[in-house]
Amino acid sequence: MTQSILVTGGAGFIGSNFVLHWDATEQGLVVNLDKLTYAGNLDNLRDAKRHHFVQGDINDGRLVRKLFESLQPACVIHFAAESHVDRSIAGPGEFIRTNIDGTFTLLEEAKRYWEHMRPDVRSAFRFLHVSTDEVYGSLTPDAPAFTETTRYAPSSPYSASKAAADHLVRAYHHTYGLPTLLTNCSNNYGPFQFPEKLIPLMILNAQSWKPLPVYGDGMNVRDWLFVRDHCEALIRVLKNGQPGETYNIGGNSERSNLEVVRTMCAIIDELRPAPDGASRESLISFVKDRPGHDRRYAINSNKMLVELGWKAKESFETGIRKTVNWYLNNPEWIRTVNSGAYRNWIDSHYSPLTVSSSPQG
Ligand code: NAD
Ligand code: TYD
Repeated sequence: MTQSILVTGGAGFIGSNFVLHWDATEQGLVVNLDKLTYAGNLDNLRDAKRHHFVQGDINDGRLVRKLFESLQPACVIHFAAESHVDRSIAGPGEFIRTNIDGTFTLLEEAKRYWEHMRPDVRSAFRFLHVSTDEVYGSLTPDAPAFTETTRYAPSSPYSASKAAADHLVRAYHHTYGLPTLLTNCSNNYGPFQFPEKLIPLMILNAQSWKPLPVYGDGMNVRDWLFVRDHCEALIRVLKNGQPGETYNIGGNSERSNLEVVRTMCAIIDELRPAPDGASRESLISFVKDRPGHDRRYAINSNKMLVELGWKAKESFETGIRKTVNWYLNNPEWIRTVNSGAYRNWIDSHYSPLTVSSSPQG
């Protein structure tokens, strides 16, 4: 693919990993449309060579249209979203505007562009919408993992907004024939993740001997995927996925939050031992649970394996060690991210939460 590609949200966590991965492994310029909310960080992309940044909102239809007309992209990879569940509980409005309205604007402009493309390039055009396993809702401990046909049952404003966007994407394929691809992925972790999410928050707190706030009883389960594995999966889907199809992407690494936090504490203790031999595990503080907290997510990625020959390369143990190392070795990145906006969120979100050394109901 030597034409340019259009990425939205490419200054965020997964988007920037994708841009860097694309830059290192594929052909063609990446044009990155990102509003630079608190979660967008251009510093992440300092090493990208074939990258053109455009600051703007996916809700700005005129800008999006101009980008399609001037760049003639071969495809769209749509990451831009409000992505943090706790923020969606505190204030859902922005989630509706970006995740639903923004996706609608992008679909409208993509359809318009695609309908006017030259027939020889038109057949190769793809609109890849990056979504989440959270649209499927919560699993009981023994229930089978989510497949592509699991019924949607989102339970947070975040997952409800992503589910709405997914339905629009499907509708644009079904009604207008837009060649869409939809991916539903499990929890990612790795370099450049904003420290409002579990793994980077815990690494940074553990490193500086601050409390590790575990919600509820710490037994909620997520299926963790190293972000580079996700990027490779997306490129597979882009190149070989069938238009109109959905692909579930997961790490086959279910862990309770307590297991995740304990594993990270052990790695940090090993890499940065305390002079008195104390362990970071002693920092674990159980705090009031998240309202409506989904108990368990798990992804069945069999379709990705059978149809596209993809499976995650990193185990949780190898991926988490790489991730801890990255955060410990990039204090400069952490300093820039530790802006006022981030500190305000930490102060307003965590200070009212009751802290206890035993699990909370
Ligand atoms: P993120 O919050 O780190 O980054 C989002 C990016 O989108 C930021 O750069 C932000 O500036 C940009 N953005 C937000 N609103 C915008 C707007 N209106 N217009 C243009 N840009 C805007 O998110 P992430 O964790 O990198 O997630 C990327 C995508 O992957 C999201 O769609 C998310 O739902 C999905 N996803 C994330 C995970 C995960 O574990 N992080 C798992 C599965 C799916
Ligand atoms: P998070 O990283 O916010 O991802 P998501 O809610 O999209 O799965 O949270 C992952 C899990 O960690 C989730 O069960 C909530 C829990 N969690 C905590 O226990 N403490 C925290 O401070 C955060 C941010 C999350």
